[in-house]
Formats: sequence, C-alpha cells, structure tokens
Amino acid sequence: MDLKSQINLEKLPKHVAVIMDGNGRWAKQHGKPRVFGHRNGVTAVRDTTEAAAELGIEYLTLYAFSTENWNRPKLEVSALMRLLVETLNKEIQTLNKNNIRLKAIGDINKLPGRTHDALLQGIENTAKNDRMTLVLALNYSAKWELTEAARKLAKAAKEGTLDPDQLNEQHISNALATQGIPDPELLIRTSGESRISNFLLWQIAYAELYFTDIFWPDFGKENFYQAIIDFQRRERRFGKISEQLIP
Ligand code: IPE
Ligand code: IPE
Ligand code: MG
Repeated sequence: MDLKSQINLEKLPKHVAVIMDGNGRWAKQHGKPRVFGHRNGVTAVRDTTEAAAELGIEYLTLYAFSTENWNRPKLEVSALMRLLVETLNKEIQTLNKNNIRLKAIGDINKLPGRTHDALLQGIENTAKNDRMTLVLALNYSAKWELTEAARKLAKAAKEGTLDPDQLNEQHISNALATQGIPDPELLIRTSGESRISNFLLWQIAYAELYFTDIFWPDFGKENFYQAIIDFQRRERRFGKISEQLIP
C-alpha cells in the first residue's frame, strides 16, 4: 500500500523536528568507522528534506550537532565539522532549486570558522526561498537557548523596556532562537532511544513524539511518511476531553 497516498494533506504538521540518531551504530553494524555512518546520514537528510518539502510541510528542524557532542573524540568532531562544510557547499544548489530556505539555531559563533562561514553563506544564498524552511540545530542545546533567553529578558527588565510583572509566554517564545517559527507538532527520533537529549524543551511542550528503531542512515521517505501517518491518527486533546474536539 502506497504510504504517501494515505497522508491527509489538509492535516499536515506545520513543523516537524527530527533527532537524527544512530549513525555510529549503523556504521558499526556495517563494520565501518563511525564517520562512515555520518557520511551515509547525509542521504537521509536529503530524502527527509525532499519528502517534507514535497508534502508541503513549512518547517523542518534537524538536530545535527548538540552542545554535548563536543565531548566526543576530537577526530569524530572534526570529521563532522568537515562533513558539514562539504554538505552545505554541495547541497545549497539543491536547496535553491527546490526553493528551500536554510536557517540555523544554536551557538553558531562557536563553530569552527570554515563551518560557520559555509553555514552563513548557505543561509544568505537561500534567504529568499519560501517553499519550506530547513532549520539546522548546530551547537544547539535547549538549556543553552533558555539560558540565553533568560539573559535577554533580564537585560530588558534592567534597562526598563520590559516590566517583569507583564512577562508572558510570548516574551519567552520571542527570546528563543526559534523566534517566529511555530512550535513543532511532531518530533521524530530515530535509533530506538526514547529521550530528548536537550532538544527544543520549550517548543515541544505539546508535540507528538514518534520514536523509531531505524538508524538514521536507513531513514528514508517512506519512514517519514509513516511518521506523518502515525501523527495524523493521534487525537490531540490539549487538555480537553475527546467530546469537546471539533472533528
Ligand atoms: C547521530 O548519530 C549523529 C550525531 C549526534 C552527530 P550518533 O553519532 O549519535 O550515532 P549513535 O547514537 O552513536 O549510534
Ligand atoms: C542527540 O544525539 C544529538 C543529535 C542528534 C545531534 P546523541 O546521540 O548525541 O544523544 P545521546 O547522547 O544519545 O543522548
Ligand atoms: Mg547517538
């Protein structure tokens, strides 16, 4: 049965976020070094981006490198940073062809110079595209983001541009790296791990979580469609009871 045709295009999530996990274990399974897994993960990035754009999803956020990932062996970190430069340089054309805008969230100023430059160039060169926004989370962690937001708001309060008694949820949303981007309605994590690993803690308050055992390099369009179908079968109650929901 064709999975894509089972998707209701009227009920798509506006924003899907993905924790791309399992590259290392995939490589091990193939008797190869971890970096081989990361390289093969690029195909899954391409397929998922294409699938999301073709369906008409507006925002796709991919967790590519966490703040905690700096703690990996130096060689793996530098290989990942090089792979990022290579992939960005290679894929920008495809993003433009597909009218996809690139954005980044995370403490990107702390990335190595070449990675930072390639990223900024990619963002600049795709800034006018408006079919879908691809958000790369790079040197990102939710606790970093929330700490930065708290710092911004504290400064505003100190300077007198924000009254602490008037502080509301919108102020916090606007102070996050995802400012202007709707919260993800669906969060996918591959590789069988059931944890959030410091990703988008504020934004996923009401996201549907979808965990699959598939390792990231094996994740393809059909797997993405499956996640969307699963999402569409769920009843999102937002605290209400079933009978209160408008069909
Ligand atoms: C995800 O795969 C990619 C990054 C975190 C950069 P992993 O490298 O975490 O793969 P596993 O979890 O060790 O298998
Ligand atoms: C989360 O994966 C970060 C990314 C996918 C970039 P990890 O593999 O780093 O997470 P943990 O260590 O299993 O929690
Ligand atoms: Mg992992």
